[in-house]
Amino acid sequence: MKDVDVTKYFKPNLKDARRRTRNETSQESFQIEEKHLNIGYGKKYYIQTYGCQGNEADSEMMAGILKKMDFTKAESFDESDIIILNTCAIRENAEHKVWGTLGRFKELKRNNPDLILVVAGCMSQEEVVVERILKTYTHVDIILGTHNIHKLADYIETAMYAKERVIEVYSKEGSIVENIPKVRAHKYKAWVNIMFGCNEFCTYCIVPYTRGKERSRLKDEIINEVKELVANGYQEVTLLGQNVNAYGLDFTDIEYTFGDLLKDLNDTGIARIRFTTSHPHDIDLKTMEAMRDCEHVMPHFHLPVQSGSNAVIKKMNRRYTKESYLNVLSDLREHVPGISVTTDIIVGFPSETDQDFLETIDLVEKAQFEGAFTFIFSARAGTPAANFPDDTPLDIKKQRLYKLNELINAGYLKGNERFLDKVVNVLVDGKSKYDDNVLSGYTEHNKLVNFKGDESLIGKIVPVKITIAKTWFLMGELIWMLKKK
Ligand code: SAH
Ligand code: SF4
Ligand code: F3S
Repeated sequence: MKDVDVTKYFKPNLKDARRRTRNETSQESFQIEEKHLNIGYGKKYYIQTYGCQGNEADSEMMAGILKKMDFTKAESFDESDIIILNTCAIRENAEHKVWGTLGRFKELKRNNPDLILVVAGCMSQEEVVVERILKTYTHVDIILGTHNIHKLADYIETAMYAKERVIEVYSKEGSIVENIPKVRAHKYKAWVNIMFGCNEFCTYCIVPYTRGKERSRLKDEIINEVKELVANGYQEVTLLGQNVNAYGLDFTDIEYTFGDLLKDLNDTGIARIRFTTSHPHDIDLKTMEAMRDCEHVMPHFHLPVQSGSNAVIKKMNRRYTKESYLNVLSDLREHVPGISVTTDIIVGFPSETDQDFLETIDLVEKAQFEGAFTFIFSARAGTPAANFPDDTPLDIKKQRLYKLNELINAGYLKGNERFLDKVVNVLVDGKSKYDDNVLSGYTEHNKLVNFKGDESLIGKIVPVKITIAKTWFLMGELIWMLKKK
């Protein structure tokens, strides 16, 4: 790789990323350039995805662009001509994994100097990361961020033919780029972005810096994407946004928000609609009514609470209280009886006391969660909470996490047990990881079910009678098999 004029590098800046403009979001349509079409002929790519569903959706787009360039998918790093690490910056341990992998790639690159190594995703949006790569991981050929995936083909062309390193990360979001091709990971379930970015600025969180301001996709783009998925045999969509309840709030010409979108998507013919993630402050009545009225919207709600202590919630800048959160849950349960609620919780937020933690435990008991992702607070450079005084030892934080998880796991089990002896509809994903004769899939309430059945059922929604409930999964029997006996 040539040493290029470093002024050509376009590096990120978290301070710029923090600023929000009033500019309206514009749209553009992706088109692959003729000259990029055959670059990948006879070559293979591998994409490693580290982050959230949004990150996975980005990987599907990068794979789509690579496919258009005629690359094919490799089965492993070793047989790849191009490797993309699609990174996540949410917690320190997510970043550790990437540094470890990058270190190991030094040798891979030594053995195959033509290998193109790409770092993409949220870590690229952090200046400390880019500086560290430039200093220590000089075998990286391309760094791009979350706002310029659509330019991947250009970057690959430069790295491959001009043999120049490309560092291009925009701190600010640009237009929404539609029609980027995708290679979807699943055949029956699809991610559908409905909005990008986040305006919340929870004090611990890096996402508003790495993903830019909130921008909603036009409703017709979303509806058409879902209709196309239906036409291609898809059964389920998961609508993605960091705060889907803010969908449409940035439209200046029409009044159209998340509840309206759910209603319109309910009429597309898609069997199942899910969404993630919601912010407790922004949930409105229209969303709950849409969930009540739309038969294809699934009865599962992921509603991150983060903490049960009002003092901590305030320091997190989350704009609700323990009480208002519990009120939202009871409204939700009134609208959609039997709905399954899951959450995210952070323990060990700076200055969280034992008393604060007990408030979280109390909330978990009251909220009847049927699952949760739980984390120990991880300081992210550039976010306000990284500078909050924090005198709780890690050991105590670990004990809190352990105690919390015990309670959460009991909630998982209870949530599963309520389906014992009931007949549930399962969208069959594939064969079980552990047994080839067993199929597995998810119920409407998002419970994992294993049952015996023929692989011809994969991709179908079938009735299953639940016979065993464990903490992490259910077991059952296909109904028509029962009848046959
Ligand atoms: N936009 C989503 C979640 C994005 S990140 C939402 O607001 O719900 C997913 C989860 O990671 C968060 O809900 C939070 O629980 C956790 N998280 C985010 N930043 C974190 C940090 N600095 N340390 C520990 N956990 C964090
Ligand atoms: Fe992060 Fe809060 Fe935005 Fe979620 S809502 S992405 S936790 S800032
Ligand atoms: Fe990670 Fe970025 Fe998603 S930080 S959680 S990949 S938005």
